[in-house]
Amino acid sequence: MAGLIPQTFLDDLLDRLDIVEVVDRRVKLKKTGKNYSARCPFHDEKTPSFSVNPEKQFYYCFGCGAGGNALGFVMDYENLGFPQAVESLAGSVGMTVPREESRPATGPGSSAEEQSNRQLYAVMEEVANYYKRELRKHPEAKRAIKYLKERGLTGVIAKDFDLGFAPPGWDNLIKALGDTDDKRDLLMKAGMLVENDSGRIYDRFRDRVVFPIRDQRGRVIAFGGRVLGDDKPKYLNSPETGIFFKGRELYGLYQAKQANRKLERVLVVEGYMDVIALAQHGITNASATLGTATSATHLQRIYRLCPEIVFCFDGDEAGRKAAFRAMENALPCMEDGRQARFLFLPEGEDPDSAVRTGGAEQFEMLLDNATPLETFLFDSLAEGIDIGSMDGRARLSKKALPYLRTLPEGIYRQLMFQALAERTGLTTETLMKLEAPPVPKSTEPTEPPPDYPEPEDGQVAAPKQRQAISSSNTPYSSIAQGAIALLLHQPTVAQLSDPEKLRELEGEDIGLLRELLELLRRRPESNTAMLLGHWYDTPEGDLLSRLAGQERLIPTEGIEQQFVDTIEMLSQLPQHSRLSAQVDKLKLTNYAEVSELEKQSLRELLQRKQQRDAQKNKRK
Ligand code: UTP
Ligand code: MN
Repeated sequence: MAGLIPQTFLDDLLDRLDIVEVVDRRVKLKKTGKNYSARCPFHDEKTPSFSVNPEKQFYYCFGCGAGGNALGFVMDYENLGFPQAVESLAGSVGMTVPREESRPATGPGSSAEEQSNRQLYAVMEEVANYYKRELRKHPEAKRAIKYLKERGLTGVIAKDFDLGFAPPGWDNLIKALGDTDDKRDLLMKAGMLVENDSGRIYDRFRDRVVFPIRDQRGRVIAFGGRVLGDDKPKYLNSPETGIFFKGRELYGLYQAKQANRKLERVLVVEGYMDVIALAQHGITNASATLGTATSATHLQRIYRLCPEIVFCFDGDEAGRKAAFRAMENALPCMEDGRQARFLFLPEGEDPDSAVRTGGAEQFEMLLDNATPLETFLFDSLAEGIDIGSMDGRARLSKKALPYLRTLPEGIYRQLMFQALAERTGLTTETLMKLEAPPVPKSTEPTEPPPDYPEPEDGQVAAPKQRQAISSSNTPYSSIAQGAIALLLHQPTVAQLSDPEKLRELEGEDIGLLRELLELLRRRPESNTAMLLGHWYDTPEGDLLSRLAGQERLIPTEGIEQQFVDTIEMLSQLPQHSRLSAQVDKLKLTNYAEVSELEKQSLRELLQRKQQRDAQKNKRK
């Protein structure tokens, strides 16, 4: 087994490399001011918006939002997995990659959680190799091979997807890999073993074809397993573990990235076998959610790789419902240049059966003719409404507006308002002014981060980036992002503040800020590129590279003071909001009904606010 690459080596490697050289060897760069620029290799463009920052050692594209350090660039540009990219880059500067044993990864720079995750990745790789070996060697594997063949799969495709076989029996895996107590604990933590009520421990996957699920770096993080016949349950999946979160991962996305130098579009289908059968027929860009609904995170992941998603759902009622939910999540992601379409297959068909009976060409044709998002949205909402009547048209606009409002600013949004205007006979201005009820779902549309100022020198055209990383941003988000931008620009400022100060705050951006602060406490020497590397290929990584690319958020002097002030401001926000909530309550209720306790706490809050304001004025 390969073993893990120590973090210190990765840091050294990034130190040794020059991202300008690394990129320039692959994409010719031109010096523009203190940065370098080129036409972005990750999306089609006429004018260069791809820029490389030699000082901070990262790249960023203002057009498509791609960004990261030298290692990330090589992974994305050359379609390499993480270890391969490290090997290749280390070779280019004459370094040899050391490997550490998977177990004792102690020492500074690795938290307990990181260590235990490393062990999980390592053991999952081992398990995947074991299942693969069993598919070749186990006496019972003939049945599995026969099953796969009957479903039209060749050995080549089985190899591409690392298909394996979990033999029948309760303890094959335990016997093969669980030779110590520690190892059995690890297999348990990895979700590969199950403990029953009487404390007996046995293999989770038995007598099944297994599908390793890889994350975007190609690491095995979970398995799916299918029975060979008609037994129930048909599919079994790994439970969520420290390294596997169902709502984030897409089966087959890694393989799709490997198979295509540049992805034009990605299909989202429902099943493992759909992904594999499509690949068998040469349609190598499919991915599947893992028995969960399509989440906003799923979609952001895909849109980072390509501008178009085609959802393939069953044509039945359940399929339409799933499609509608996917569409709701897609709306906030629909920046200009992105597309989403929906393919509904006839009842009883899935992509696997459709491509097997009709062939790849016909399936591609279905994809090309899939329903555009706008048609699907308006048609679904208009269901049961008589558009011929004035009343019906008014109802349609009332229903549609909350959805349109979740679209990010841009031409697409305007076009959607126009399309609604055409369908309802109302003017766009009237529609814009109409009072709309809130979106009828749990995830409210996001508060977009603030617009960033345009660059003064006009070297690179910076379109306004409005994409929020998740649907759970808080009002603190933009302040937190400001602090993150400062940290990325000058990581040493982390030492000026205590993550504890943010204890009371919630929200994803706050969480990320706190994690950054904690990481920089443990590894104070980390630079921008290392930080980006740490979050590479995660939704947080997207936000980080975007913020790192926004130099204009950074003042020319007084960075330390601004950072300290920002953290201070954040730490006081919960008090502010408690105060305004209390004041709001007073406005609404009769003062006599407010309890003594509440009055007391309000007086205290007000007093503290006055003290703070007084202090602030003194400082000025
Ligand atoms: P399907 O039943 O549509 O899968 O479930 P499929 O790929 O078409 O199955 P076969 O192999 O062709 O018969 C779609 C997905 O739902 C999840 C799995 O992720 C599956 O790929 N699922 C389904 C389960 O988790 N458990 C089940 O028992 C069934
Ligand atoms: Mn199927």
